[in-house]
Amino acid sequence: MAKFRSSYVCQNCGAITQRWAGKCESCGEWNTIIEEAAALGIGGAAARKGVAGRPFPLEDLSGASKTEPRLITGIGELDRVAGGGFVPGSATLIGGEPGIGKSTLLIQACAAVARSGGRVVYVSGEESTAQVRLRASRLGLAEAPVQLAAQTFVEDIVATLGSGDAPKFVVIDSIQTMWSEAIESSPGTVSQVRGSAQALIRFAKASDAALLLVGHVTKDGQIAGPRVVEHMVDAVFSFEGDGAHAFRLLRAAKNRFGATDEVGVFEMTGGGLAEVPNPSALFLADRDGAAHPGAAVFAGVEGARPLLVEIQALVAPTTFGTPRRAVVGWEPSRLAMVLAVLEAHGGMKLGQYDVYLNVAGGLRIMEPAADLAAAAALISSLTGASLPRDAVYFGEIGLSGSVRGVAHAGLRLKEAAKLGFTRAFAPQGLRAGAEPVAIAAQPIDNVAALVALIAASAGERKAGSMRAPARDGVTN
Ligand code: TYD
Ligand code: MG
Repeated sequence: MAKFRSSYVCQNCGAITQRWAGKCESCGEWNTIIEEAAALGIGGAAARKGVAGRPFPLEDLSGASKTEPRLITGIGELDRVAGGGFVPGSATLIGGEPGIGKSTLLIQACAAVARSGGRVVYVSGEESTAQVRLRASRLGLAEAPVQLAAQTFVEDIVATLGSGDAPKFVVIDSIQTMWSEAIESSPGTVSQVRGSAQALIRFAKASDAALLLVGHVTKDGQIAGPRVVEHMVDAVFSFEGDGAHAFRLLRAAKNRFGATDEVGVFEMTGGGLAEVPNPSALFLADRDGAAHPGAAVFAGVEGARPLLVEIQALVAPTTFGTPRRAVVGWEPSRLAMVLAVLEAHGGMKLGQYDVYLNVAGGLRIMEPAADLAAAAALISSLTGASLPRDAVYFGEIGLSGSVRGVAHAGLRLKEAAKLGFTRAFAPQGLRAGAEPVAIAAQPIDNVAALVALIAASAGERKAGSMRAPARDGVTN
């Protein structure tokens, strides 16, 4: 009988050690290492028995291969992120925080595929079939011919999928709940997740089914459990959003069959997830007629998609010893840098002001291109001068105060023009791309020019406050 061996596996990164430790040496996480039975792995048993392999025929690169058409779910935003539909035999991992809408999206996708014909199987390891059915009927999908199961035992699932017609589309919700008899560890452990994923992916490749695995994420947004599953699958999508707002973004973090800069935008409604073909309109929907100081429209790009959002700033005299800087939806370090540049090169004295910055709609902006819009919003709030309502801003601010060019300028301008904006404040030397756009580019070379431009439209009294001397000892 084989001797029982065990090893210690980090549940965060999958690193294996021979000894328990409080901290994983590999990923630096604490208390993630637990004891698991050592997996023999594929070939482990064969190696012990000394079984010889059999040769197999090798193929040419130029050989003909059957190319099956991609599976179009009919949910346009999902198909786009997948690279124009799902490739038969591919495996996709979809991660996202609990309650973000992964199950909702996938049951909608299942129903859409099932309606267009073909066998579709949805296996839930988290909910009972009654719960899944209840959700489907609430979404008006009850009569779609989706086959449901509430199962977690992988061998049974693979056997069921393998009997009858070959399935076209298989959803496993979620991979963390699955377990396989081939692995000795308890369900939920890294070895189990990896082993279960392996068995399911092997089935998908053999049967040409498009497999979608739901994955949990940790509190810092990583897909929980083994990172190795991310390497095993063909595509990794993350489904993001913030609980307080209805919009959701589906991003491709990895895609062997498409671009990774695609973004799908959805809105969570009472009737499930609705596609948002024009996200800028969604994010600018709350802008009312009047212009307010401190609001600037940023012409951003998410992935390969233009997205206009409003950046709001509030600069107010501080009542604290140390002024506050708070930011929602943007990098605090980026705000600190823009403030420092405005002080050093824009002549603004912000030492005695609290500064708040907010990206409207709950979006998180990562692009440095938002610098110019943030700076415009800050200057506007400090001077009390509203920015023109027909203008958008984009450009990266350097530490020298210069405004630098950013990628996708043409895309940004085109989107702004489409939404009725007529002016774009952006760095010099803008190339709008091949097509002419109905928008006037107003070059801004440095932050001093931006400050001068906005201050010029402010009242004298307000502009004067910009030169207010900083109180001694109040620095930031
Ligand atoms: P769910 O798909 O269960 O999330 P996940 O699988 O990612 O954990 O989504 C649950 C949330 O979605 C829940 O908070 C309620 C909300 N929801 C709606 O707002 N409208 C709907 O039509 C449905 C089905 C869910
Ligand atoms: Mg779910």
